[in-house]
Amino acid sequence: MAPAARLRVVVLVSGSGTNLQALIDAASDPGFGVDIVAVGADRGRIEGLARAERHGIPTFIVRAPEFPTRAAWDTALAAAITAHAPDLVVSAGFMKILGPAVLGAHRVLNTHPALLPSFPGAHGVRDALAHGVKVTGCTCHWVDAGVDTGPIIDQRAVRVQDGDTEESLHERIKVQERAMLVEVLARLAATTGAGG
Ligand code: GAR
Repeated sequence: MAPAARLRVVVLVSGSGTNLQALIDAASDPGFGVDIVAVGADRGRIEGLARAERHGIPTFIVRAPEFPTRAAWDTALAAAITAHAPDLVVSAGFMKILGPAVLGAHRVLNTHPALLPSFPGAHGVRDALAHGVKVTGCTCHWVDAGVDTGPIIDQRAVRVQDGDTEESLHERIKVQERAMLVEVLARLAATTGAGG
């Protein structure tokens, strides 16, 4: 019997990359069914890229300020991703809006630190805290042309505690977020495999 197809994944990061690390750790088990074939970023000198390098995963950087227009950046990012022939792109703390070139060429999944459709955008944790919600959490969703508007794949709830700061709340959300992301990828690998 032919071996089951493995899901080729490119992960995009802009910062510390703890969600990426959770995927790297999970992917060290061949049974997970996922190969992280590259890690891309919009900036250098970040822990997310260092994590990839420590694990021998190819990296690339496509910096928006180096391109004359946002569209040119989007096209270059799409090409850099395509070079690794992924079945799926995971935006895990990538802090830029992806454009039509990337989204037209790839299936992209994002993880967001709030219970969408509440608190989309770059400050999901801060905005939820400022609103005074008692429960927030994280969302994994498909990326469409809007800002955090695509179809929801999974969510986890996290209670806000008295005295929470943006940092303390975000840390508790990220514990849930990492587990959610690993579970979502495991399900996708099991149900779709490559090219599904
Ligand atoms: C995660 O909480 C992710 O949801 C968030 O950045 C963090 C990255 O953490 N992304 C956004 O806010 C995108 N709007 P990590 O670098 O440690 O994985």
